[in-house]
Amino acid sequence: MHSTLTCGACGHKHPVEQLQNLCTTCSKPLLAGYDLEAIRDRFTPEIVRSRRIRSMWKFWDVLPVDSPENAVSLGEGETPLLRCKRRGVFERFSNLFVKDEAFNPTGSFKARGMSAAVTRAKALGVETVALPSAGNAAGAATYYSASAGMRCNLFMPEDTPPANIIESVVGGAHTYLVNGLISDCGKLVKQGCDRFGWFDLSTLKEPFRIEGKKTMGYELAFDMADEASSTKLQLPDVIFYPTGGGTGLIGMWKAFDEMQKLGWIGDERPRMVVVQAENCSPIVKAFEDGESHAELFPNAATVASGLRVPAAVGDFLMLNVLKESHGAAVRVSDDDLLEGVREFSQQQGIYVCPEGGAVWKAAQSLAEAGWLNPDEKIVLFNTGSGLKYNHLFPTGDLPRLDHTDPNCLDAIA
Ligand SMILES: Cc1ncc(COP(=O)(O)O)c(C=O)c1O
Repeated sequence: MHSTLTCGACGHKHPVEQLQNLCTTCSKPLLAGYDLEAIRDRFTPEIVRSRRIRSMWKFWDVLPVDSPENAVSLGEGETPLLRCKRRGVFERFSNLFVKDEAFNPTGSFKARGMSAAVTRAKALGVETVALPSAGNAAGAATYYSASAGMRCNLFMPEDTPPANIIESVVGGAHTYLVNGLISDCGKLVKQGCDRFGWFDLSTLKEPFRIEGKKTMGYELAFDMADEASSTKLQLPDVIFYPTGGGTGLIGMWKAFDEMQKLGWIGDERPRMVVVQAENCSPIVKAFEDGESHAELFPNAATVASGLRVPAAVGDFLMLNVLKESHGAAVRVSDDDLLEGVREFSQQQGIYVCPEGGAVWKAAQSLAEAGWLNPDEKIVLFNTGSGLKYNHLFPTGDLPRLDHTDPNCLDAIA
């Protein structure tokens, strides 16, 4: 159970037993802290491995609960780390892996964050949550709220893909379509929270979504260990992460820090690579310009809805991770990321989301540029299922066969 909530920018401390959003002093994100010294003996890799919990809550000691039974869980986390077969487009990479987050409930890594956030909100008596979403967060919020018996108010841009809208409506979320961008939806959420007392679940404005997402970092260290029983956990050399609000990136970096304090790993760290869409790449631009904050990206547009975040409250935290990890920031065009989906899906046998296609193309381009050594241990994050993005891949006219014609297979080579 967390013992502190501290602003990631000004260091102001906030009471842990009260509902919190952004820092009341400087409006920046709050980060949870734990008394890691006190849990060191009862929270070890061996103990974690021996737990019969089939979800991210096997790491409950560093999540916002007193006991795993109190978690609002649908079985999130514990996703596979798959090795990419060394052939075709993967030929040059000898240690390429994909962490396939499509295995999560509601088909994306958003499940991890929502499980943690809804768990904490429920414990503090919240009855109604609200959030803006143009994609996967909507589905995750809908189903975790349903599971917790809470009302969920969703504000979605009216051009949100049908799969996300339908999923939310079927799951019982009160869904409102807004004639604007995600930032306009966010403003309505803020007004609604002030007026009606809903709790704001917006990414990084709520302190525990990041805690859920940090479990990707914990899991990776177990996934990469030489042997299943090894007490020596390991991290990859490089992590490619499709970045919108940056919750996962910041969360994993936090996890590595916690694991070092727990004595699970040393001071080695992967190089972190932020991957954004060309026409919505505020963090890439700020990184290239050597800035510590990012400007709002004008006219942001990309088919990868998870990457359509023109301004992120955690910008300074992401830029810090890039600097500390000696990482890189890469932009990928929409055409390239869609090609990446096809290439990766056909080569690896998993239907990746456009964000997953983007990280694959980014890895290719950094290998070509010589920044990435293809023999390094490289992990790509496929953050969600391609199934929610079917609208991006029209099949065109497929050949029709008349099964009553005995010669109908003749034309097939
Ligand atoms: C599939 C997918 N990938 C990546 C992201 C970006 O995640 P983050 O906010 O952690 O940067 C999102 C966010 O919506 C997403 O849905």
